[in-house]
Amino acid sequence: MKKTSVNKLKYYIFFVVILPAIFFNNSLSAQDSVQLAKSPPMGWNSWNKFGCNINEKIIMEMADAMVRSGMSKAGYKYIVIDDCWQGGRKKDGEIYANKKRFPHGIKYLADYIHSKGLKFGIYSDAGTKTCQRRPGSRGYEFQDARTYAKWGVDYVKYDWCYHGTQNAKASYLLMSKALKSTGRPIVFSICTWGTNKPWLWGKGIGNLWRTTEDIQDNWNSMMNIVNQQKSLYKYAGPGHWNDPDMLEIGNGGMTTTEYKSEFSLWCMLSAPLMAGNDLRNMTAETLKILTNKELIALDQDKLGRQAFCYRDIGGYEIWIKELTNHEKAVCLLNSSDERKKVQVNFALLLKASSNYWRPDPYKLADYRVRDLWQHKYLKLKKNIKYIKLPPHSVKVYQFVKK
Ligand code: GLA
Repeated sequence: MKKTSVNKLKYYIFFVVILPAIFFNNSLSAQDSVQLAKSPPMGWNSWNKFGCNINEKIIMEMADAMVRSGMSKAGYKYIVIDDCWQGGRKKDGEIYANKKRFPHGIKYLADYIHSKGLKFGIYSDAGTKTCQRRPGSRGYEFQDARTYAKWGVDYVKYDWCYHGTQNAKASYLLMSKALKSTGRPIVFSICTWGTNKPWLWGKGIGNLWRTTEDIQDNWNSMMNIVNQQKSLYKYAGPGHWNDPDMLEIGNGGMTTTEYKSEFSLWCMLSAPLMAGNDLRNMTAETLKILTNKELIALDQDKLGRQAFCYRDIGGYEIWIKELTNHEKAVCLLNSSDERKKVQVNFALLLKASSNYWRPDPYKLADYRVRDLWQHKYLKLKKNIKYIKLPPHSVKVYQFVKK
């Protein structure tokens, strides 16, 4: 080819192919995707309480209750419909909702939720079917993403049932690309229950990933999940969070003390806070736990550091979370069935860092210690204090700079 025609071709490629691609590409960038979940997402999900027994009325009432109860003010904003909303696919492949349960369709619901100032989430599966054998998104990824965007979906939870021989990373990357290509900001929640170690590949693909099997509304299940978070603190950060599953607070299987522990641990772990109870008729106690502002502030802290387990002395655990402004939070957990009286050295805990060999050079004299359930500063006479911990209870303290 002559030199002039090579140059012409270069100009052609630049002006006709590259420039328009830059200007007219409305797909979401990696940076936009981080912004979407700079702090762990907060909301409500239908699964823990309702399973497949969902319908339009329940979801709309839940949105009303989210606002009326003050939860939305406290930071909860996503209303997510989990499995079983699907009806089938039209001839052209477009997914539609179960007509009996959602007679007005999903767009109607999304509009209603948006009119309340909330955001709307939906559920699908990377395989051919969802876990409850409804149509999965396999082979329909781009079409489903377009449909969700058209409906006004802001959050997609994507499950891992009926995946056959699919590769996990490739399957989630495909849906991530499909969602981003719609140009609509959509939080993407990876749900492989910790199989295939999503914390090793999920950053940049999704905004959160489940780390374990499903939670059950009892102490052992909850603690089993907490124990599996111990090695994962380094993988969480702004835009990409470990997800120890939805909350069970208010569902009745645990005591108030245990639910307070669940909430404290989730906030220490920078976990997504997805309530899983019936918001329409929760007790004052449940609401008080779910809207503890000081704990929510820990969860949402801008540094985005998940707590690490500093000590586990069989039945007594100390978790530490680094916060912005060189502050720290400490959670003392009595995971045993007996009462405990523990000796706590606050000066030492303030110095504790995730690197055992390199303690932080902070001095207790520069801080006050705040009890985040009592909402009071401690009157510390010495560095050391004896603290009583009933079975399955926690104490959460924050070192606040003077
Ligand atoms: C899986 C998920 C749950 C829920 C159900 C729905 O078990 O882990 O959170 O979404 O599927 O079928």
